[in-house]
Amino acid sequence: MSQDIVTVSTAGLTGEFAVITVNNPPVNTIDAGVRAGLSAALDGVEKRSGLKGVLLRCDGSTFFSGADIGEFAGPPKEAEYRALFARFEAFTVPVVVAMHGTVMGGGLEIALACHYRVAAPGTRFGLPEVTLGIIPGAGGTQRMPRLIGVEKTLELVLGAKPVDTDAATSAGFLDAVIAGDLAAGALEYLKALVAEGKGHRRTSERRVDPATATPAIVQRFKEQAAKQYPNRQAPYTAIEAITASVRLPFAHGLTYETELVNQAKLTVESRGAVHVFFAERATRKVPGIPADIRAAQVKQAGVIGAGTMGGGIAICFANAGIPAVIVDASDEGLARGLKVIGQTYDSMVKRGRITEADKAQRMGLITGSLDYASLAIADVVIEAVFESMDLKKTIFAKLDKVVKPDAVLATNTSTLDIELIADAVSRPGNVIGMHFFSPANVMPLLEVVRTRRTSPQTIRTVLEMAKPLRKTPVLARVCYGFIGNRMMEGYAREAEAMVLEGANPREVDGALEAWGMAMGILAVFDMAGIEVGVNVHKANADRFPPDPAYYQADFALYEAGRLGQKNGKGYYRYEPGNRARLDDPEAIAILRARAEKLGIKPCAHTPEEIIERCLYPLLNEGLRILEEGVALRASDIDVVWTSGYGFPRYRGGPMFHADTIGLKTLYDGILKYQARFGPMHWQPAPLLEKLVREGKTLAQWDAEQQKAN
Ligand SMILES: NC(=O)c1ccc[n+]([C@@H]2O[C@H](COP(=O)([O-])OP(=O)(O)OC[C@H]3O[C@@H](n4cnc5c(N)ncnc54)[C@H](O)[C@@H]3O)[C@@H](O)[C@H]2O)c1
Repeated sequence: MSQDIVTVSTAGLTGEFAVITVNNPPVNTIDAGVRAGLSAALDGVEKRSGLKGVLLRCDGSTFFSGADIGEFAGPPKEAEYRALFARFEAFTVPVVVAMHGTVMGGGLEIALACHYRVAAPGTRFGLPEVTLGIIPGAGGTQRMPRLIGVEKTLELVLGAKPVDTDAATSAGFLDAVIAGDLAAGALEYLKALVAEGKGHRRTSERRVDPATATPAIVQRFKEQAAKQYPNRQAPYTAIEAITASVRLPFAHGLTYETELVNQAKLTVESRGAVHVFFAERATRKVPGIPADIRAAQVKQAGVIGAGTMGGGIAICFANAGIPAVIVDASDEGLARGLKVIGQTYDSMVKRGRITEADKAQRMGLITGSLDYASLAIADVVIEAVFESMDLKKTIFAKLDKVVKPDAVLATNTSTLDIELIADAVSRPGNVIGMHFFSPANVMPLLEVVRTRRTSPQTIRTVLEMAKPLRKTPVLARVCYGFIGNRMMEGYAREAEAMVLEGANPREVDGALEAWGMAMGILAVFDMAGIEVGVNVHKANADRFPPDPAYYQADFALYEAGRLGQKNGKGYYRYEPGNRARLDDPEAIAILRARAEKLGIKPCAHTPEEIIERCLYPLLNEGLRILEEGVALRASDIDVVWTSGYGFPRYRGGPMFHADTIGLKTLYDGILKYQARFGPMHWQPAPLLEKLVREGKTLAQWDAEQQKAN
């Protein structure tokens, strides 16, 4: 098989040039097959007599996109990479590497081991390893500083974002940009080198300029790491490895790099990030769906409701090249919705994300209508009207009369019982929840909610449809709040309880953010609108425990006319046109007054208590969700929270975090707060109790479930 992946051809009058071409679709990952193929190719090329030069290139959409993250779980492969790359470097004739597409991690490291680097216009290069909790481990920390110095290497590695050919050229690791046919141009480049009498040019034999690694420079990057990567170690490890290139001979530098990368792989941040990486790839696996059930093709979409969510959803389809018709109840609703869509695209153009032509093409795919009959051509219809059961049932009954028999009928409801919505149609097997998150065109998470009657075909179609929509789908069963919002309930409850106990909103949000949440929950409420939560709690009052203080911080602010950012006052105060949170004594006074009315005594809160009280209920509810089968796996829950709720990926998601702290710690923690606040909100989930009794982790539970299925 490796022969197919790597081919060697000859060029030149006497076959004096060897062209090594790799083709490992879809993105030319340097996996075991590629390494074996390259190794075999080198065996042949190294023996050639009369060899004058070597060209390494890839077919397909990109040069090597990176190492195979799938191998992270197995034994370390660094030594193998090193040995392979060293063989390219060891040639005594020039070795040119021709790059295109997105050249990341190991893909860039192999290029550094070649003697000359050329690329097609538009190629992007990056060393993003620190975002996976590790460092470049195939020579990158030692070769890159030899080419561009320590300072620029640290910029690239801590920046962790791909840079373009201009940046690569000016930094000094790209020799030429070749327009037109890259393979032909790169071969010409190689021939010209040879004609000029240029020989090999080994990166490892160069010295690092010590002026690029002064204490002041290194200090600056340590400060950047502290700001950009709180709670993480990998950026410091990268700084350590890269600066070591100044003082260590190359071979020792490589050994040190390997030592550091192997240590990094054991850290929680690395294991957490890798866990999420795999978890995201596992969500589409659904036990019980026969293999012969194939997804239906989605060539035309329909959206009902041109509001916040409907507009965002239509944009997702148009971005995927799928035409979408939006139906709204009124001309005004439709016009407003289409205007907002236009503005969204305008801002994408302004930020350089798309061109004017892209905008025109995508807007052309979105059409407005007031007539349900225009949905007759749709393969999927997603309803996103106001959150009202009566309205949704009426709409589904109407839809039932006009859409194709096999069309997917989806609702974007956040809180309503989809089983009841499905009752409104003659084909409940086609009904499913597609719960997008706001802004729908940006947020990657899609909760896919099946009822008891949703057909396997409908599930498969929606899970596959998520791919072109660039969403990460997670399958859930119907329950109040599905996976994400249901777990949010206890998390936010405690945040609100603590502000009633006298914690400043900034203290609560600050502790959560310092711990790693993208945004403190009170600031989230201000952003979403305090009335949103209040309305949901009013509409669902019968579902919640009989606690007079339940979500009363929200209610108190709402009743005082504080709606959050939209009117400049919520938990914080906001200046017009500015999202910066300002402390507001008026909000504190309102919260204090409500607390007094409820008989809540003020007390102090440490950051540890804030984290425990918010997170323990969240994790505990996750265990209930697993036990009830609402989520298929613990890792699915981790995907929901890392992709939809700002939970830090480097902590692996809530269920991974529960294993990190230990289920016994979680259990004991819940009992500790039960002793203080009573059992109403503090009751360990039965599955938590069981796993603690059996001394098991959630990872083990996941593995056992998988085996059983
Ligand atoms: N806003 C969010 O953050 C969010 C997130 C996830 C899910 N949701 C859910 O998405 C749905 C829509 O929420 P939204 O925030 O976009 O609401 P919205 O108020 O912004 O938009 C609702 C739209 O539906 C239209 N509409 C009303 N009746 C209609 C009818 N009979 N036929 C066609 N169109 C009709 C209205 O004119 C309006 O344009 C709700 O079920 C909500 O729970 C909202």
